[in-house]
Amino acid sequence: MISMPLNMIKEGMVNAKPIYTSRELMLLDEGAVIKKSYLDRLEELGIRSIYIRDDLGDKEIIHDIVRKQLKVESLATIEKIMSNICYCNETEIERVKNIITDIVESLLVTEDVLVNLCEIRTIDDYTYGHSVNVAILSMITAINLGYDKEQLMDLGVGALLHDIGKTRLCLDILNKPSSLTKNEFEQIKKHTVFGYEILNNIKNLSSDSKIIALSHHERYDGDGYPHNAKGDSIHEFARIVSIADVYDALTNNRVYRSKISVDKALDYITSVSGEQFDGKIVDKFISNIARYPVGQGIILNTGFRGYVVLNKKNHISRPTVRILYNNLGERLKVPYIIDLSESEDSIKVVGTIDDIELF
Ligand SMILES: [Fe+2]
Repeated sequence: MISMPLNMIKEGMVNAKPIYTSRELMLLDEGAVIKKSYLDRLEELGIRSIYIRDDLGDKEIIHDIVRKQLKVESLATIEKIMSNICYCNETEIERVKNIITDIVESLLVTEDVLVNLCEIRTIDDYTYGHSVNVAILSMITAINLGYDKEQLMDLGVGALLHDIGKTRLCLDILNKPSSLTKNEFEQIKKHTVFGYEILNNIKNLSSDSKIIALSHHERYDGDGYPHNAKGDSIHEFARIVSIADVYDALTNNRVYRSKISVDKALDYITSVSGEQFDGKIVDKFISNIARYPVGQGIILNTGFRGYVVLNKKNHISRPTVRILYNNLGERLKVPYIIDLSESEDSIKVVGTIDDIELF
């Protein structure tokens, strides 16, 4: 399968990954044959690309690190809590805890947790999808840091609720497509303090979970907000969530800018490691993310082009690639597979392509 921008998808192509809304509704099932009306609906919902089955005969199976139903439940719960502040109560927090327990358990039993973008990106609604992604990415990073189950729980619950303070902000500012005025940015900054105030009233929530809402925009070099906290004085949970938060925002489309590719987002995170972010946490974060996700079109230094079919743990920059075009741009009569994790170091990926022609 391959990720394709919506404008390249034609009627008759086959959807390769289910697409859900945050309201537990499946928009498009795996195997659905694309019709014009589906494309119109996807566009209406702001979905810019989907996964399409290729015509090369094989079926690359990607196992979700967190099963779909669990993600859908997480989305519905966080949407309920964020849609009305009255729902941010002990009963709903108990529900959040149950969901996070299930997610922690599924992450702990998966031996080689490797994040492929498509696994956590079949969601149309930014805010709720973002909360769930940030929670999962944070917990995966924390497993790498050696956290125990109880710590993972507290981190996951707090990460899922990290932007709860946005419920007190004006939607016009939150969804503004153009750049913010100084005053508007000051308003946005308040979501950290608002979030902490909201969570502080909840009895069955640990203080470690609550601090994430307050401190996830602090930066390691002291350049963040709301308190310009610095270095290790920022709670480690917030230092983890800050990286997951920025990474997920960069790799998603927003009203004011388009998403960037995983490799570019990882380059950015690395470039500010030790400044904005705690370097040792960045290293753990990066080690679990496939730099070129399955379906990503890529170009090799030999000039040959293809797309990623598999990623292996411990080889995050050296995927298995199906080569479709030679260095002259000619379509190969017989495409072939190259596993870069087992090939010579001299062959490497040098760039990504968003619109590789498969059909
Ligand atoms: Fe935030």
